[in-house]
Formats: sequence, C-alpha cells, structure tokens
Amino acid sequence: MNNSSYAVKPELFNDQKEQIKLTFIEEVKDITKEDTVVRLKTNVDDICIMCFEQETIRITSSHQAFDLDGSFSLEPLQPTEHVTLVSEQDYSEIRFNAITVKVNHKPFGISIYKQEKLRFVQKAVAFNDTQSYLFLDRDRDDFIYGLGEKTGFLNKNNEKTTMWNRDVFEPHTRTNKELYQSINVFTHMTKENKYGFFLDNASKVTFDFDSNVNEGVIITDSGKLDYYVFLGDTQKDILRQYTDLSGKPYLPPLWALGYHQSRHSYESVDVLLDVFNNFKSKKIPVDAIYLDILYMERYKVFSFNKETYKGIENVIKKLKDEGVKIVPIVDPGVKIEEGYDVYEEGLRNNRYCKYKDGTVFTGEVWPGDSVFYDFMNSDIRKAWGKNHKFYTDLGIEGIWNDMNEPSVFNGEGNTMSLDVLHDMDGKKIVHQELHNLYGLGMSMATYEGLKDLNGNRPFVLTRAGYSGIQKYATVWTGDNRSSWEHLEMTLPMCLNLGLSGISNCGPDIGGFMDDTTEELLIRWTQIGTFLPFFRNHSSIGIKRQEPWMFGERAEYITKEYIRLRYKIIRYIYSEAFKSHKTGLPIMRPLVLEYENDPIAHGIHDQFLVGETLLVAPILRPDEKYRKVYLPEGIWYDFFTNKRYEGGQFIIVKAELDEIPVFVKGGSIIPMSEWSMNTDQLQDFIKIHVYPSGASFTDSFIVDDGISLDAPHAEIKVQFEGDEVTIKTVGTYDHGLTLDIKVIGD
Ligand code: GLC
Repeated sequence: MNNSSYAVKPELFNDQKEQIKLTFIEEVKDITKEDTVVRLKTNVDDICIMCFEQETIRITSSHQAFDLDGSFSLEPLQPTEHVTLVSEQDYSEIRFNAITVKVNHKPFGISIYKQEKLRFVQKAVAFNDTQSYLFLDRDRDDFIYGLGEKTGFLNKNNEKTTMWNRDVFEPHTRTNKELYQSINVFTHMTKENKYGFFLDNASKVTFDFDSNVNEGVIITDSGKLDYYVFLGDTQKDILRQYTDLSGKPYLPPLWALGYHQSRHSYESVDVLLDVFNNFKSKKIPVDAIYLDILYMERYKVFSFNKETYKGIENVIKKLKDEGVKIVPIVDPGVKIEEGYDVYEEGLRNNRYCKYKDGTVFTGEVWPGDSVFYDFMNSDIRKAWGKNHKFYTDLGIEGIWNDMNEPSVFNGEGNTMSLDVLHDMDGKKIVHQELHNLYGLGMSMATYEGLKDLNGNRPFVLTRAGYSGIQKYATVWTGDNRSSWEHLEMTLPMCLNLGLSGISNCGPDIGGFMDDTTEELLIRWTQIGTFLPFFRNHSSIGIKRQEPWMFGERAEYITKEYIRLRYKIIRYIYSEAFKSHKTGLPIMRPLVLEYENDPIAHGIHDQFLVGETLLVAPILRPDEKYRKVYLPEGIWYDFFTNKRYEGGQFIIVKAELDEIPVFVKGGSIIPMSEWSMNTDQLQDFIKIHVYPSGASFTDSFIVDDGISLDAPHAEIKVQFEGDEVTIKTVGTYDHGLTLDIKVIGD
C-alpha cells in the first residue's frame, strides 16, 4: 500500500509528533589529566579528550560501552603527552602546540581554537537510552563536503543523511539517504573558518545539517560517541590528517587503472571469449573482464560451473598471456549445502556469524539459504583470505566483492539480524553496532589474502565500506541507472568519496540498470576516461553495452576514448601513487585546489584529475555547448592546445565525439602511445610541457606497477626560460625513453 498515495495518510503521522526525551550534559564536575587523556566528569557521563601531533583532537564519551578502542579499520595514532591542562572557575583549557581546547564547565560546551582563532564549536551533547546527540554550529551559507557516497550535489550543507550500508536497488535519488558506503567524515567550511570531523561509529548515524537553523546535529543509534576534529589550515591538510587516521588509499596495480569490461553476466566461457575476441579484433584496449555470479556452480563462492565454465583455467591463462585479467565476483553468502567444502569447513571451524545463543545466522542471497563469515574477527578474516587460493592458483589477481553490506534478501531491513553477536577478537558486539564495518572486513580479508597468496599488489573492488576501506579496495558506486541524472550524479558522488579518503572509485559506466542509449554510453565513456576507476558494467535483462553494441559511430568514438585512457595512463597512475602517499584524491572538485575562490565552492559538474587536468563533461542529451569555469591561471585546451586566461567562465563547444578538457599552465602531462592493455604499454613517453609564463617544476612517478613496496622513480621536469631539463630521482631504473614537447611552440 505504501507505494500509493496511502503513504501520506495523515493518521500515519500521528506518532511522529512524540518528542524524544534527551538528557543533556549540563555541567562538568571535575576535570583531570592522566597521561595522555584529559577526563571530564559530568552530570551524565565521563568524556575523554586526547590530542595528536597531527593537529587532531579526539573526544570520546563514555555513554554506552566505554573504552578508548577505535574501530579496527583505523590506524593506531599515539596521543601526545605534551598537553597542559589549566583550570579556572568557569572553564578549563587543554593546550597543545598552537591548539587550545576550551571546556566550558556550566553550561557545558567545547570550543577549539588554533592560534587563538575559533575553529570548532561543540554546542551540546545529549543522550537517551541508546542514542547520542551531538550539536554543532552551522550556518545555512556554509559548505560541507565529504560524507562519502551520497546522492545529490557537492555541498552537503542543508541536507540530512543517514549512514547505514544498504543494498539499494531502487533508482538512487535524493530520497535514498543510505547507500552502500558509510564514511562519517566531512569538512565544514564557513566564510572565515574550516575544520574536519570524523565520527568513529559503525552503527546507524544521522548527519542532520538541515532540520535546525544554525545548528548541525549528529545522531548515533548505538555505540559510543567518539569523534575527531582535524585542524588543518586547508582542506588538503585536513584530508591528510584524516587519512593519517583512517589510512592512505591503497596503491592499485597499474592494470586496475586500465579499461575494464563487465556484465551481469557473461554466462559461459564462449560468451566470455567472444567478448575478449571483439576487443582484440576491433583493437579496443581492455585490461580486465569480469565474471559475475553466473560463473559459479549454483552461486557457490569459490566454484566454477562445470558445464558453462568448463575450461576456464585455460581461458584465464590465454587471456593473461595477452595481457587481460579475469576478475571474478565473490559475495559473502556461503551456500548451506552438505558436501560443499567451503560451507563445511567454515562450520567445522566456527567461522559463521551467530546469535547470542550460538545459533548460526542464516539468510537468503543468490545461492538460497546462506551463512556469513564473521569478518569482524581477525582469524576468520585470515581464513577467508586463504580461501582465495582457489582463484590465485588459476592466476587470478583481482576480486570483486559485492553484496557485502551485507545484503540479505529475506533479512529484516534486507540485512543481517541486528542481534547477531560478532566476535571482535574476543569482544562480543552486536551487529547493530558494527553493521557498517562488515563490508570493510570482507574486503580487508580479501586484500590481505590475495597479497599473501600472490605476493604482489592485489586489486579488490567493493560495493560496501566504512572509513578505511581505501586501504584495501577500489569502490564502485553500486547499481546506478542508465539515466542522464545518474551520469551527472557520478561527479559529485565520486568527488565526495575522494574528499572522504576514497581516491580509487568510479560508477558503472553506461549505467547498470535500464537500457542505455548510444549518446549516453558515449558521454559516460568520455567521463570514465578521466575517472580513477573505469569499468563498463550492466545488468542482466537489459541491452548489452560493450563499446561495439551501438553501431559503428559509438564504437569508433568510445574506442578513441578508451585509447585516450591509455595515452594518459602514466599520468593517472602517477596521481594514484601520489594519492597513496598523501591521501589527497586523484579526482578533485575545484574547491580542493581553489578553496579561496568562492566560485569554485559549489561547482559539481567539473572536476580535476590531480592538479592539472580539468574535465568539464557534457551531461545532458543533445547538448553541444557548455559553460566551463577556468580558475585563475593559464589553461590550455587539451585537444587543440588553445590557450586561455583563467578566472573566467567560457562557453565551449563539444560535439558528440568531444569532451572539454583543459590543462593547467605550469604543469606537465606524460603521454604514451595507446596500447591494447597496460602489459603492452610502450617504453616511450612524450612529456607535454604547458608553460605558464613563469618557471616551474613538475614531476610524475613511475615504478613497475605491480610489486608491493616497489622502488619508484620521480621524473622531474624543470621549465626555466625556454629551457627544459629532466632529472630522475629514486631507485627505480625505469628504462623509459623520454621526449619533450613544449605546448605553444
Ligand atoms: C548486484 C551488483 C551488481 C551485480 C549483481 C549480480 O546487483 O551491484 O553489480 O551485477 O548484483 O551479481
């Protein structure tokens, strides 16, 4: 009935008028410092404050289970002892380097200053039986960025959203607050001020930057209120600080940055080979082809269908010899079936999620009734990792994790029972409190398993995640639709993922559900060329959308763009490398680079790749012109080399086979010839140098693209007067032939 107008029947709203009763912290009764922890005793509970050298403050309340352990997805940061506590009658100050945390005793409140400048205000904290409420200062004209994978535009101020990992099949619109990822981090920028915020809580969390005027409210459903404030002076500093805590993005193998092709599902080895042969004969580059659920024997993970996938070992080998990797899907649900070794081994070794009374939790997914590894436990994660020998023995180096919210078709709320009691290395915690960590646990297990088994850099693709997922996997944005709205949403969604530490991300190019069109596929492929992750994927039951499925014109244009990806792949790889070191994203909103330029703040429909490439795609059908904002500086049209002065909007033309892309003056782009895949990438690089009118140095990084902790080299290009000099620093002997092309010459 709720799919009809019945949904707005007034009687249904009666009980919503009930007020939630909250107990506020009103007063600090005592404040002491023990080693690295400052403890406040209040009229309700204790609050602990810790300071870290990374200009980071942690504030933890003892409401609910009190300990100072963080999630296992975080990096252990050592709080500093160099803190002084000064208490006066009405307030206390915790001082550390340039930072002062001021605690008002009554009424209770916390303000954080850096160099005497007010940066952060915690207005109030309140609780009821299970929930915690945190009230922050907010103004309607502020900007809030981050919050991971969300629908809508770039700025999350004046929005209300919830973090609860969910398998969302219905079209992702503004109504869908919960998607597959929960990344509780944001940067709040006011006219004079900014700070970063991260809440370490894997239960359901609501970020409400909408309901109350001049106030933001963050509500946790269960678990403790445990948050961090980052006091970097720029958004980039804040992001560096957040990724010191949650981890730097993993360095993908070079092949993970090539073009990938997928479909639910290539139903047999013959279909798979046909796809591969098409790429080969049509000379369209491809680095990976995916196996969706139909490769399995009745959806049993770690199995191949003996009839339809007979001979897959040889196909994997043949394709690998030609430079193309196979990436199979692995879901968390293990089919309950007597005689199925994976199921039985898990049962024997007590690896499945259980209720408090010891009964194993079962739920329905693709294979029917299934059980689920308890990924919250490190031994069980190890065991899951080891299972991947099944794939690595065949030469597989990449795994696709799906359904890991976890999605449970017949579960309440389509997920695991909230009463399941996880065994977090001895600590028993209910699923409700850890829900958002489940997918991360699975991908962490997969990453570590592949790493141990293959000894090189794994590639893991995941749908679900929590803060820290960037250390283990690339994130794709789930079941989008073949619509122009979703094409447009790709940009702010991936940009905010990047601003939340998740540098390696991308959508299903072409759209997953609904039939795509020739024009939409072309426009989406053009965007994909510049995204960190570039995979075309579509659903069963809808039109096929490989590059050749829409006739010659689409084939020609998409081929040119896929080839272009390989021409710029050295640049993209170098950006992935830098991102792995710094935590700054590959794909960036203008506001990250130009945060003092107010025009840059709300732009969601353009993006930068690193600092250098500015992409302004066409996002609507039949559109051949668009407005582009070029920030201050000199810019060059990437395709024609036409030079522009920045600090202005321009109108550019883009026929169906064109996408507006600009290069920032004062930088370089290492360009390669296109190749059929990254294995066949040539050793010749033409370094395009884009003058800015002043001297500059820029660089790119190369390494072998696959080894763990590989030595690398930084190729530095200096432009002075009209002279270009190249210097290589580092231990990697790259053996490349380098040539220079100065643009404008
Ligand atoms: C889910 C995934 C999708 C996949 C399908 C079948 O819907 O999001 O990418 O193709 O399951 O495995």
